[in-house]
Amino acid sequence: MSLKGKVALVTGSSRGIGKVIALKLAEEGAKLVINYPVADEAESAQQVVEEIEDLGAEAIALQADVTAMEEVKGMVKEVKQEFDTIDILVNNAGITRDTLLLRMKEEDWDAVLDVNLKGAFNVTKAISRIMMKQRSGRIINISSVVGLMGNAGQSNYAASKAGLIGFTKSVAKELAPRGVTANAIAPGFIETAMTDQLSDKVVEQMLSVIPANSFGQPEDVADTALFLASEGAKYITGEVIRVDGGMTM
Ligand SMILES: NC(=O)c1ccc[n+]([C@@H]2O[C@H](COP(=O)([O-])OP(=O)(O)OC[C@H]3O[C@@H](n4cnc5c(N)ncnc54)[C@H](O)[C@@H]3O)[C@@H](O)[C@H]2O)c1
Repeated sequence: MSLKGKVALVTGSSRGIGKVIALKLAEEGAKLVINYPVADEAESAQQVVEEIEDLGAEAIALQADVTAMEEVKGMVKEVKQEFDTIDILVNNAGITRDTLLLRMKEEDWDAVLDVNLKGAFNVTKAISRIMMKQRSGRIINISSVVGLMGNAGQSNYAASKAGLIGFTKSVAKELAPRGVTANAIAPGFIETAMTDQLSDKVVEQMLSVIPANSFGQPEDVADTALFLASEGAKYITGEVIRVDGGMTM
């Protein structure tokens, strides 16, 4: 699965699933761009860079809020200056603002749709030109099983993740003739800071519907991302791969 010489940008990769994906791609020899949204996360992003350097790979950390097109364009320009190209994009940045529909504020809706869906549009648009020109590229969007099934209390999140699947398939159709693939991963319940916020009751309920009888780890998602980025996945596009221990089969 060697990614030697490839350049990968993972949005929101200073922690959680994004960080583990970045480390996994670096282990296979890719040069990594660690993206983070706010100055507060600069230190943790730098730590990821150092972990990657310890693996013998190259990495840089760049601050850009994916919801801001100008910041995204600036980031892509810096990547081109540093590494010349971008071969792999993982749209991983995501947030939740969970509450029932009747209590959901317009800001809760807008914030989630902005990061999870518009953010992916912004970064994909900025990078697709580079990939189309070089006639190769891999776009991997981190959706969620919630985008396939819906979930009470997550109408904003579910809409954003379902939207991301529609976006992935459309981009896959547009870019396939140029040698660029676009696929989505739909994780189930993965143990990260995002799921740490859930109550014990919700966690217990979740576990009861997972045939594997355990929660997923960021490594499970990262292994799938690595496969989609590899040579072996060159004929797979527009696909949604569930990584959920059988929860939604
Ligand atoms: N943890 C799960 O169970 C689970 C399940 C399905 C899907 N996902 C998805 O996986 C992805 C990663 O989630 P996680 O569990 O690691 O959560 P996390 O909260 O640990 O990580 C989210 C990352 O996104 C970044 N981010 C947030 N807003 C951003 C912005 N505007 N610009 C750039 N980066 C931004 C954060 O800084 C953080 O690094 C998300 O898209 C999430 O929706 C997670």
